[in-house]
Amino acid sequence: MDIKKVVVIGSGTMGSGIAAHLCNAKIPVTLLDLTTEISEKARDRIFKSKPPLLLDKSKIENIKVGNINDNFDVVKDADWVVEAVVERIDIKHNIYEKIFKFRKSGAIVSSNTSSIPIKILSEKLSSEEKKDFCITHFFNPVRYMGLLEIVKNENNDLNKISSLKKFCEEELGKGAIVCNDTPGFLGNRIGVYAMQVAMTEAFKFKLSIEEADAIFGRPMGIPKTGVFGLYDLIGIDLMSDVLKSFIKELPKTDEFQIVAKEIPLVKKLIETGYTGRKGKGGFYRMNKESGQKILEAINLKTGNYSPVKKINLDLGDTMNLKDLKNLKGSLGDYSNKVISKITKYASSLIPSVTESKNNIDEAMRLGFNWTVGPFEMADERNDEIKQNYLDNSLVTLRRIKNNKMNYLKKFNSSANYYYYEPNRYNIVEFKTKANALDSQSMEMLKLASDNNLIIINDSMQFSAGVNL
Ligand code: NAI
Repeated sequence: MDIKKVVVIGSGTMGSGIAAHLCNAKIPVTLLDLTTEISEKARDRIFKSKPPLLLDKSKIENIKVGNINDNFDVVKDADWVVEAVVERIDIKHNIYEKIFKFRKSGAIVSSNTSSIPIKILSEKLSSEEKKDFCITHFFNPVRYMGLLEIVKNENNDLNKISSLKKFCEEELGKGAIVCNDTPGFLGNRIGVYAMQVAMTEAFKFKLSIEEADAIFGRPMGIPKTGVFGLYDLIGIDLMSDVLKSFIKELPKTDEFQIVAKEIPLVKKLIETGYTGRKGKGGFYRMNKESGQKILEAINLKTGNYSPVKKINLDLGDTMNLKDLKNLKGSLGDYSNKVISKITKYASSLIPSVTESKNNIDEAMRLGFNWTVGPFEMADERNDEIKQNYLDNSLVTLRRIKNNKMNYLKKFNSSANYYYYEPNRYNIVEFKTKANALDSQSMEMLKLASDNNLIIINDSMQFSAGVNL
């Protein structure tokens, strides 16, 4: 199955992001919305987006726009129709009825829904139509988030799902993971669970939010916003809606139910307009006192704010799971508890949510920007539980790196050069500050470039550029 033309219906945040990314892959795409004016505005937003959704702004005209009444004919030529309209089942059902009337035989139709099960989305489709229908759940912003979840239904033509996955990986550069029709699919189920564990355990261990964020951040290989910072960024009210939906959809016995219970302080923050960065503030707030801006953090016990305290754990500014494991006191106990709960929960989702541990690790890396996923964390920490969880036959870049004896071929002060399976891949890892490139790193790259070359590193920044 060749995907040569795509139509995206719904030109909001996600539809416009998907159209822009298809344009990046040089795939002709048409963006339809209720009116052409709405899709034209979406194209303007794509043009002005920061960080840019387009690789090359001069290609903006390759995204055609139109409306669902006058221009629906374009669906007849499309090999793939992506639905990205508002999250309302009645609207989605109406759109599918129309798409399946117009689409050419065999064309794929998919939804970008983040929460509606495929069972419900496809309930009005015939078995023949169901063969070509699936969920393609992109993350926002589409160009920059590596994860794409593909959710299939029981009637899917599996060859078609495989070729869609291949297209999304090879042409769109996504890490496409096929998962089952379960609430929150894969990334959000574990990502939101992890956030809730990090939050509820912070209350239990009586940590300050600065302490919790200092642990559930860089040392764990998680973006430095931590958990409370991330809550503020996403929106505390939005997170509360997400949790309500999980509580409703998941079985009463699911561990998620325990960590998703409403927290009185969170309820109060939402009610008083402290919904995060978009509101008056959240767990953190910027207080303007006598013309000065002071960043303040909330006290989880009293709900009062005071100036943010810097936490110095002496763990460096990149992932450091081994030293974190040995950290003493309540901060160490907190990190061990959080990691073990996440790993345990993640392992309980195999095979009901996805088939492999690798899929879970990949979902957390690509969808939540974790340096490693939960099973790789257990591996790195050398946790005793790891044997239960980690597939020993899996060859990860981390394992190659940790097994220097076998794989390290050359090194200098700026880079390591490994090779894995001679004649297949060479691997170069930068190791300067901020991974800045100098003559030594270039030397290793030059030596390694006689073969397929993979460049890796563990830092938050891939490389700060050339060290001038
Ligand atoms: P949005 O509200 O930004 O855009 C929705 C668009 O659909 C609007 O432009 C609206 O005019 C259009 N629309 C409404 N009814 C329509 C119809 N009958 N025909 C054509 N267009 C119609 O929504 P957003 O955020 O882009 O979400 C779209 C889908 O993607 C939803 O299913 C959502 O759950 C999902 N999603 C959203 C993510 C996000 O971060 N915003 C992330 C992943 C999935």
